[in-house]
Amino acid sequence: MDRKVIIATENLGKVNEIKKILADEFDIFYSLKDFKEKIEIVEDSPFYIENALKKARKIGNRFGCNTIADDSGLEVDALDGRPGVYSSRYGRDDNERIERLLDELKGVPCEKRTARFVAYVIFYMPDKGSFYVFYGQLDGYIGFERKGGHGFGYDPVFYIPEFDRHLAEIELDEKNKISHRGRAVYALKSFLNADFFKRTSSK
Ligand code: IMP
Repeated sequence: MDRKVIIATENLGKVNEIKKILADEFDIFYSLKDFKEKIEIVEDSPFYIENALKKARKIGNRFGCNTIADDSGLEVDALDGRPGVYSSRYGRDDNERIERLLDELKGVPCEKRTARFVAYVIFYMPDKGSFYVFYGQLDGYIGFERKGGHGFGYDPVFYIPEFDRHLAEIELDEKNKISHRGRAVYALKSFLNADFFKRTSSK
């Protein structure tokens, strides 16, 4: 299999996480920041999986390279699953998104602040027109304040009871072992190393 791959995102937080896990599987990683040409992808589906597939196919077909795309989100039970698939559009930047989340959860007690991160990761091979889907989930709670300086997005307010820490207080390697995206990408890694895949991808 080709040792080059595109990670179809401009989010360097996501790129770093994925690169770290797949360092042995690929030699060259591109992100959308590496291409001058800006390709517009409208994530207009209410389903993560459709948005991820749309990104993967559009980028993979345009550049003729195996492509990884993910669509992820934060689902908060007290908000009936919002922001969910709209997590990146919940505010103009990470700071505004967190502010809005804490605001909407004002008065909601600890035990009702349950939430989960979910990620759908797609590996798309344009020369074969085939794609594979991997899923990961991380359960936790929305804290009352920001903590930690690692990660990105909602990490500073996502509390994990098993660690008694917020996600942004956890180093990247540790986050990758437990996170929604980490779990999905480790599943992709095992798949790429499986005999079945090695046989079929070299045909
Ligand atoms: P998308 O997958 O690019 O649509 O973005 C999903 C949004 O969910 C991101 O912009 C973040 O705000 C949030 N998100 C997804 N994964 C994570 C994570 O690992 N930590 C914190 N926030 C995340």
